[in-house]
Amino acid sequence: MAWLRERIPLDGDQLREMSNEPVPNHLKRWWFALGGTPAYLFIVQIVTGILLAFYYEPSPRTAYGSVKYITDTAAYGWYFRSVHKWGATLMIAAVILHQMRVFFTGAYRKPREINWLIGMCLLACTLGAGFTGYSLVYEQLSYWGTTVGANISASVPVVGPFMKAMMLGGDTYNERTLPRLFMVHAAILPAVMLGLITVHIALIRLQGVTEFQFKDEPADKPKTFPFFPDHFYTELSVGLVLMVLLSALATILPATLGPHADPLSTPEVIKPEWFF
Ligand code: HEM
Repeated sequence: MAWLRERIPLDGDQLREMSNEPVPNHLKRWWFALGGTPAYLFIVQIVTGILLAFYYEPSPRTAYGSVKYITDTAAYGWYFRSVHKWGATLMIAAVILHQMRVFFTGAYRKPREINWLIGMCLLACTLGAGFTGYSLVYEQLSYWGTTVGANISASVPVVGPFMKAMMLGGDTYNERTLPRLFMVHAAILPAVMLGLITVHIALIRLQGVTEFQFKDEPADKPKTFPFFPDHFYTELSVGLVLMVLLSALATILPATLGPHADPLSTPEVIKPEWFF
């Protein structure tokens, strides 16, 4: 320890002070812990995504087969794929619930406007990750969902056709489309989100969370409690409940695989994921 302390001059008291910022009492209500939920799910998505990327092959010839291999053959592949899929669903729901909490408590107001805008970018990135992830499987709905999504973005005035060409790597879906969707899904969006989450949380630390006075809280009681361990334990409990929920959903309703993409036959119903 002495060797380490000489090289990293940080002692227990300093660490305790840094992690122990007092937080307002209302953070004991679970819906005020909803910001930690997408952060937790983001980590789950990174870990399961890395495991899936060991096997996934992003080309029209190999993508479907590699997802089939993950689902049917690779050890625990079905489980990690299902956790990744359900993790995406829960993350989008958690981001929307957190945003609703911020909106309905008016916590976006001065001086937190910039953090609200950073949050909007996080929402866009989360939805973007959902869209590109759905496209990677190369089943009928992935192929046609991407085609419809690209055509919708082409209808945006002025920049639309450029956006479509950037998305598909050409005028129509071709062999360059999947590698670029994979890069956006597995490298660009996670890196951008990591940066945005870091700034989001740094701003929360600098400004503190918004203080509220609730009618059922006596005015003479202390208005704050320590972040560590009290609030940390709330976040930990939420994380553990989520882990059980994710595992249960992945086991009871595992991710399935539809028919292979066929560019020559349009399915009768092309439906996007629920969040679109
Ligand atoms: C990956 C997505 C996100 C993560 C990980 C995240 C994380 C957090 C965390 C940990 C907090 C502390 C308070 C709490 O837990 O409620 C917070 C507060 C806040 N978030 Fe987010 N957030 C995300 C998305 C968003 C979105 C989509 C918006 C709105 C567009 C937003 C706007 C805000 C604002 C304004 C605050 C300050 C609230 C206050 O002072 O009471 N965030 N966020």
